[in-house]
Amino acid sequence: MAYLHWSNELDTGIEVIDKQHRRIVDLINELNAANEGGDPAVINHVLGELVDYTLSHFSFEEELQEKANYPFYKAHKRVHEIFTKRVAEFQKRAATGENVAPELLSMLKIWLVNHIKGDDADYVEAIVNSLGVEIKKSDTSGGWLGNALKKFFG
Ligand SMILES: [Fe+2]
Repeated sequence: MAYLHWSNELDTGIEVIDKQHRRIVDLINELNAANEGGDPAVINHVLGELVDYTLSHFSFEEELQEKANYPFYKAHKRVHEIFTKRVAEFQKRAATGENVAPELLSMLKIWLVNHIKGDDADYVEAIVNSLGVEIKKSDTSGGWLGNALKKFFG
């Protein structure tokens, strides 16, 4: 049983963003499985992967918003920063040997769903208006989008 199920309500309609959000949901489910497995090394490994991927996603999302001149770009970035600080606190505790996975998972489940449905859904229209409808189903192999993906995800 997955801990967090993807539902259509979470689709923003921008394919490149939805793919990244799905990957984050997958990693949350992996963290849950690792937590159930109970091996601290595995838990910390998945936790690290989840944090890295999420930070790359935030940077990508911020660049997309900046490119589109999204008026609430700064506020959105601030929300990402506050979340990043909260996660860093969890990582500090994890580094001392504490299993933070159960608490982190319940925080993530609520935060991510609210963030995607609220803050993320809010920027879609501005991005489509500014960058054109192609951004929704963009071919990510080249151009600005391809370069940004390479820059943040390698
Ligand atoms: Fe976001």
